[in-house]
Amino acid sequence: MTLKAHILLGAPGSGKGTQAKRLVDTFALTHLSTGDILRDAVSKGTEIGLKAKAIMAEGKLVDDDTVNGLVFARLLDETRDVLFDGYPRTLQQAKALEDFLSSKGLELGMVVNVDVPQDVLEARVVGRRVCSNNACGAIYHLASKPPKQSGICDLCGSPLKHRSDDTAEAFRSRMGEFNSTFQPLLGFYRTRPTFRSVDGHRAPELVFDSLRQIFGARA
Ligand code: AP5
Ligand code: MG
Repeated sequence: MTLKAHILLGAPGSGKGTQAKRLVDTFALTHLSTGDILRDAVSKGTEIGLKAKAIMAEGKLVDDDTVNGLVFARLLDETRDVLFDGYPRTLQQAKALEDFLSSKGLELGMVVNVDVPQDVLEARVVGRRVCSNNACGAIYHLASKPPKQSGICDLCGSPLKHRSDDTAEAFRSRMGEFNSTFQPLLGFYRTRPTFRSVDGHRAPELVFDSLRQIFGARA
C-alpha cells in the first residue's frame, strides 16, 4: 500500500500537537512534528540543534533546506502513514515535500487546517507547559488543562517545562512568521480534494471529534 503523508496546518497554539497525539493513537500514524524534532536536536546539542537554538527561541523559522532535510530523512525510514504537525510551513517547504513524495512514489493524504481566532492564541501559548520527557511530550495548560500535581506530568511523572519560545515576545514573533507565510501555503493546498478546515476554537474533545470523522473517512 502507498504510504501517505497527512498534514495538520495551523497557527502557533492552534492545537496541532494536542490533536496530533490523539490522531496518531487512533489511526496508527507516525507523528512527525518538526518543532519536536528540532527541540530534540537542540537538547542533544547536535550541529543542527546548535544552529536552530537561538532562531527558535526568538520565534523565527529555521531555514527551509535544514527542515526539509530532517523531514525527508525521517520519511525514508517510515513504514506507516505519517501525520505532519508544523510542516510544511512555507510555500517552499510545501513544494519540496510535493516533489519528494512524487519522487518516492508516496502520496499526499489529508491536509487539515485547524482554524483558531488569533486573539485567543497568546494565552494558550504563554500558559502551556509540556512534559520534559521527550518520549512522552504531554501538553498541558495552567488554566484549561492543569496537571493533577503542579509541575508534574500526569502520564509519566516527569517534571513539566515551559518552552523557551512560549513567552509573549517570542509568541508575537512566531505569529509574525505565521502571518507572512500562511496565505501562500493555504493557497497551495486549499484546492486539493483532501483539504479540510476545522473550527479549532472549541473544546479539544469537540475538535478531535471533527478530526476523527475526517481521518476516519479518508480515502
Ligand atoms: P512548533 O513546535 O511547530 O510550534 P508552533 O507551530 O508554533 O505550534 P505550537 O507547538 O506552539 O502549538 P500547537 O498548535 O502544537 O498547540 P498545542 O497543541 O501545543 O515550532 C516551534 C519552532 O520550531 C518554530 O517557531 C520554528 O522556529 C521551528 N520550526 C518548527 N517547524 C518548522 C518548520 N517547518 N520550518 C521552519 N521552522 C520550524 O496547544 C497549545 C496550548 O493550547 C496548550 O497549552 C494546549 O493545552 C492548549 N489547547 C490546545 N487545544 C486547545 C483547545 N481546543 N482549547 C483550548 N486550549 C487548547
Ligand atoms: Mg506543537
